[in-house]
Amino acid sequence: MNKGILITFEGIDGSGKTTQINELIHRLDQRNIDYQLFREPGGTRIGEKIRDILLDKDHSNMLPITELLLYSASRYQLTMRSIIPALNAGKVVICDRFYDSTTAYQGYGRGIDLEFIKRLNAVATKSLIPDKTFILDISLEERLQRLGKINLDRLEQEAITFHKKVREGFIAIAREEPERMILIDGNRPAEEISKEIWNHVKSIRSEKIE
Ligand code: ADP
Ligand code: TYD
Repeated sequence: MNKGILITFEGIDGSGKTTQINELIHRLDQRNIDYQLFREPGGTRIGEKIRDILLDKDHSNMLPITELLLYSASRYQLTMRSIIPALNAGKVVICDRFYDSTTAYQGYGRGIDLEFIKRLNAVATKSLIPDKTFILDISLEERLQRLGKINLDRLEQEAITFHKKVREGFIAIAREEPERMILIDGNRPAEEISKEIWNHVKSIRSEKIE
């Protein structure tokens, strides 16, 4: 086992991942705990270029498998170049999305075979599994209210039925791995959620250290 701790945040867009990650980082900063933060897709120079291709509104004709492979390519680069070295150095690594997003968006959302995605996810992550994954769940009405309708990227522009499938996908994933996954009701005030998340993070830290 590597020395660090890998914590990932998942959920549909607008569910509050960025807000909660900022809260968590603030708490880590206050305690002088060394962490590294990455986002997917992206997080490396090559990954950020892949991100631009994936989110470009002009790429409306991108095929589902093309999309799947691009997310996976970005992830492999990030895992090998950044996440694994940071974990080996004993850091707390926080990821704004990781392979569960592929299962939810490309698997449940696009309908690509889930077993195939499982195998590809294992390749793209060198079978690395997060210590804890927080899935922020909000209603689709709340999502629309939070995001508004301006400047949405390619994935955000998808129809409401797509986001419904993705949301249901995340809930299904959470049920499959109850030890790792914490399904959080994201419709509540941000402060309440951040306290809940912090309590979980404290318990992972003590489990790993003992
Ligand atoms: P994500 O990173 O998952 O897309 P953000 O953290 O960027 O989500 O939040 C999307 C929007 O919703 C932002 O305008 C943010 O201020 C707002 N927001 C985040 N958390 C909450 C919350 N618990 N209650 C109400 N609004 C929130
Ligand atoms: P981003 O701006 O990071 O979204 P958010 O702020 O909601 O996290 O855009 C990433 C988009 O890519 C988002 O719509 C989810 C999607 N995505 C996938 O479809 N598959 C994946 O494997 C990942 C990591 C993201």
